[in-house]
Amino acid sequence: MSTSPSAGAGMAWQNSQNRLLFLFEYTTVRYVGTDNKKIGLLYRIFQLTIMGYLIGWVFFKNKGYQVKDDTIESSVVTKVKGVARVNTTDSNLWGPEDYVFPSQGENFLSIATNFIETPNQKLGNCSENPEVPKNTCSKDEDCTVGEAVRAGNGIKTGVCLETHNGTCEIYGWCPTEIRKNPDPATIVREAENFTLYIRNFIRFSRFNFSTSNVPKENRTLYLKHCSYDENFHPYCPIFRLGDIVNKTGHKFEEMAKRGASIGVLIEWLCDLDKDSDCRPRYSFVCLDKVTFDFRFARYSTDAAGQRQRTFYKVFGIHLDIMVCGTARRFCIIPTIVNIASAVTLMAAGSYICDIMLLYAMKKRTVYTESKLDRMTTNDKEIPLQIMPEGLKRKFSL
Ligand SMILES: *[C@@H]1O[C@H](CO)[C@@H](O)[C@H](O)[C@H]1NC(C)=O
Repeated sequence: MSTSPSAGAGMAWQNSQNRLLFLFEYTTVRYVGTDNKKIGLLYRIFQLTIMGYLIGWVFFKNKGYQVKDDTIESSVVTKVKGVARVNTTDSNLWGPEDYVFPSQGENFLSIATNFIETPNQKLGNCSENPEVPKNTCSKDEDCTVGEAVRAGNGIKTGVCLETHNGTCEIYGWCPTEIRKNPDPATIVREAENFTLYIRNFIRFSRFNFSTSNVPKENRTLYLKHCSYDENFHPYCPIFRLGDIVNKTGHKFEEMAKRGASIGVLIEWLCDLDKDSDCRPRYSFVCLDKVTFDFRFARYSTDAAGQRQRTFYKVFGIHLDIMVCGTARRFCIIPTIVNIASAVTLMAAGSYICDIMLLYAMKKRTVYTESKLDRMTTNDKEIPLQIMPEGLKRKFSL
């Protein structure tokens, strides 16, 4: 048979066509069953482990079918109620306007529980408190006129008062503050029965979900009567100050004397797939038991029309209300991703079984001898590809 140019061109075309055929081929895996009990058992155990991991750990324990939002947006409003009998120069009854600082109802507040009073201070010259450091002198030149006493109560007048252990005289509110330890006798005992109402609005912006800690049903009636109790009224937003202190593991008397800082934690763990399951959990921790005090003054005018003030060093319970939380909701993407990763792990199990079969089992020659089969549309012309045989095979029982 003679070869004509056209026949040569035809063969060239056919060759290039053959080269392109790989685009349209599909390689399938040949399954080889084995009745090897050990491998079968190993594979089943592996499958069960993966299933257990997926259902138990990923879905049940870690809620792998949900997405979460832990950036909680929160707003807190507080209100304290209660009155107390006190024995001060200004008044003998304190209401919330007298003992709550600041009075606007913020998420941190101090409730006065004890105080040291310095009554009837007037502007003028007097001796500085001898306990104030770096204020001693032996002659007038030691006291620079116009210099403020560091950690003291006024400005030096330039006079050295020998009579008072040699201290510089000051211009300020006189007499200076009485310095002594807080007296248990002045504790505001009724403070134990003061109530703190906490209103907390929260929002999870990822889910556009918002709620508040005040129960919606029978709101007004409920708020009139309830008082927070861990077991009986865990969702009542009204707290007795004495209970808050006791929950931190301390006695009220003890804390009221010198004051303390208490953290009120509101924790929201919301599963938005369940309608009712977005409620606050309250806990109370003592942040600083040593002391909490601050000072303030009440101003008035005496009978002669002169300005005067009553100076208070106040000890109190400082409350800091902290809010944290996480919301979760079902989402299809993490669900699919988690299932897919478990399925991939399962495939890894069959590879492990293959390798066991190939290298570890005694009768391995039986398995390695079998040939890779390749089904193509054109059996004669496409060469067999050499593949690692173990990787091309799956076993099933
Ligand atoms: C607090 O209230 C209870 C019950 O109303 C009362 O028995 C108790 O005496 C009050 N405590 C103080 C310190 O006033």
